[in-house]
Amino acid sequence: MTFRIAPSILSANFAKLGEEVANVIASGADWIHFDVMDNHYVPNLTIGPLVCEAIRPCTTAPIDVHLMVKPVDRIVPDFAKAGANIITFHPEASEHIDRTLGLIRDSGCQAGLVFNPATPLNWMDHVMDKLDMVLLMSVNPGFGGQSFIPGTLDKLREARAKIDAYTARTGRQILLEIDGGVKVDNIAEIARAGADTFVAGSAVFGAGKDSDPQRYNSVLGELRTALAGV
Ligand code: DX5
Ligand code: ZN
Repeated sequence: MTFRIAPSILSANFAKLGEEVANVIASGADWIHFDVMDNHYVPNLTIGPLVCEAIRPCTTAPIDVHLMVKPVDRIVPDFAKAGANIITFHPEASEHIDRTLGLIRDSGCQAGLVFNPATPLNWMDHVMDKLDMVLLMSVNPGFGGQSFIPGTLDKLREARAKIDAYTARTGRQILLEIDGGVKVDNIAEIARAGADTFVAGSAVFGAGKDSDPQRYNSVLGELRTALAGV
């Protein structure tokens, strides 16, 4: 199993965002997780396509755009043009889920659905062929720094079983990402429950002294060491 770590720049220093992106990838992160909030679908307001475009030259690592916006479709092509590699959205925020997945893929990006803690997994059942990733929220979306909801572990096992059955039938892979409250002390348990891709915001960007360009090396190393034991 290949594991990917995707630090969420929501917890980065926004005054030095380009540097933060470059430093966290140089410290061993795999992807950049990019949280888009609209103060409508979720009660917070963050960053949009302009910021995605601005950080795009700072790294060649995939940018994983997590849309917490409603409606979804209008903004998808803008993120594709801004250099997003993966675009995920919440099924409750789209009137036509299959169409939105198709729109993301037609824009040249990989597509995924995001499941809130109370959202049932069967939203994925009839669109598996259009999914490149499934993202389970282990907190309610809107803020960094919340605690991991333990019930997500059973839901991860359920999602893993659905994805494995689909892969066995078709040979096609779908990634399983987890987002919210991922830390050094719970990442191994989360991996054992079936996740292969891990968003970590406060755990990564909260680490180390601001003046040290290598400050993310040690926390990313600890996350990797925990994963190596799985
Ligand atoms: C929450 C966001 C998360 C958040 C994770 O709505 O989707 O990506 O930044 O932050 P931590 O890792 O601090 O829970
Ligand atoms: Zn996110």
